[in-house]
Amino acid sequence: MRSDLDPHDWPAFRAQAHRMLDDMLDYTEHIRTRPVWQPIPPTIRAQFQAEIPTEPVELASVHEEFMQQILPYATGNVHPGFMGWVHGAGTPVGMLAEMLAAGLNANLGGRDHIPIEVERQIVRWMAQLFGFPASASGLFVTGTSMANLLATLIARDAAAGTRIRQRGVAATSNKLVAYTSTAGHACLTKAMDIAGLGSDALRLIPTDHRGRMDVAALEIKIEHDRRHGFSPFLVTGTAGTTDTGAIDDLTALADVCERQNLWFHVDGAFGALAMLSPELAPRLAGIERADSLAFDFHKWGQVPYDAGFLLVRDAELHQQAFASPAAYLRRESRGLAAGSPWPCDFGPDLSRGFRALKTWFTLKVYGTEAIGATIAQTCALARHLAKRVAAEAELELLAPAELNIVCFRYRAPWHAETPGESNRLNQQIVVELQERGSVAPSSTLLNGRFAIRAAIVNHRTTEAEVDTLVDQTLALGRHLQTSNPAHWAHLPKDSAWLPPTL
Ligand SMILES: Cc1ncc(COP(=O)(O)O)c(C=O)c1O
Repeated sequence: MRSDLDPHDWPAFRAQAHRMLDDMLDYTEHIRTRPVWQPIPPTIRAQFQAEIPTEPVELASVHEEFMQQILPYATGNVHPGFMGWVHGAGTPVGMLAEMLAAGLNANLGGRDHIPIEVERQIVRWMAQLFGFPASASGLFVTGTSMANLLATLIARDAAAGTRIRQRGVAATSNKLVAYTSTAGHACLTKAMDIAGLGSDALRLIPTDHRGRMDVAALEIKIEHDRRHGFSPFLVTGTAGTTDTGAIDDLTALADVCERQNLWFHVDGAFGALAMLSPELAPRLAGIERADSLAFDFHKWGQVPYDAGFLLVRDAELHQQAFASPAAYLRRESRGLAAGSPWPCDFGPDLSRGFRALKTWFTLKVYGTEAIGATIAQTCALARHLAKRVAAEAELELLAPAELNIVCFRYRAPWHAETPGESNRLNQQIVVELQERGSVAPSSTLLNGRFAIRAAIVNHRTTEAEVDTLVDQTLALGRHLQTSNPAHWAHLPKDSAWLPPTL
């Protein structure tokens, strides 16, 4: 009896494989005919309580299960109406490249093979794009949360010395502290925690009226910390804040870091790739002076999840933070164990997938100009949305639309004096919009005010979806406003009670 896991009937398997490919191509081609998102029926959720299978099930049957029970209940970020959080849409090209990578089943932790050269080529491309030296190092990771963590560790070791890796943080007398703005992403706090420095050691500097870090306040805080026995080591600027898309003054931050001898890291999770748009690139001035830069190809780069990236100016410092000797990872000058240093010397992962391939395909097939043009288009759509909001007396912009994110709310006369009611009304609008399935914004709190947040990242989004967002928000706001708030606030999250015309 055969024990390998390959098909016994290759022609039948090939026919099934083509059906699966066709289904996903159909899904993408006709995505506009589907809801962005839909609530998951309890019966579907219950299917995933089944026991682990011990007996084989036909591939066609498992595929059917996927089509019925998984595909319709995804997040929806492939859909042009998706405007929630900061999600890229992916492309059919990226999907095919994922299949090729899975077929190759390459492990990019190390050893001498061309998949690692593909990743190294992207490191060189990114070094060039962001004005880093050709000797810069880089690495694919899951996402910017991970890239920010690695940058924090590299900066920590550069400041405290690499002995910290053997002796631990507790053995150092330095009270290391880092800085970002109050608009910095929560993963920066987590990174300080995981790095053993403590989340309290991340100082949150206030922002100005445009959501950018107050650089004067930063320098005052650094001086204050030094006078009180702390050791500042890292400043993280943000290129595209999560809430509003604000870009810190990266040149001013680079100047502060130079004067204060601090590591300058840029969290460019989605904003960094604005570099691909000639119209937007000047707004990232100063990024080329960063010591390290974190960003995601899976956001504005439209590469399928996940494809986070870290770029580091000084490859030696990068390697010193992660390399570790192990007999079974011995390097040779020839054979399969050649090609040192390996990617595992630049991060915590030894086993690593071929994220570089879908990125390489995306960059080659579309070219950077086309990707830059889609990025500029999402910003143009954000401006269109901001204009429509500004033109409606019932709507209010809650932050400047700096890039591709628009935060606004519905305002109704009866809640002018009751911010709690206003927040609940807008909260209800967001949930209803998501459940109706034409557009899916997310939300945030800005100065205690609940905002409907549209983050336009998707290359498929057009003015039609933006207009639907405005029209449905107005219709819902008007309807909810005329109902007794005491009633609607307690209604179940079920759109059945809404008028069918909305
Ligand atoms: C500014 C910023 N930093 C970090 C992150 C986290 O990135 P990831 O979700 O890829 O880990 C995000 C996510 O949206 C972000 O907007």
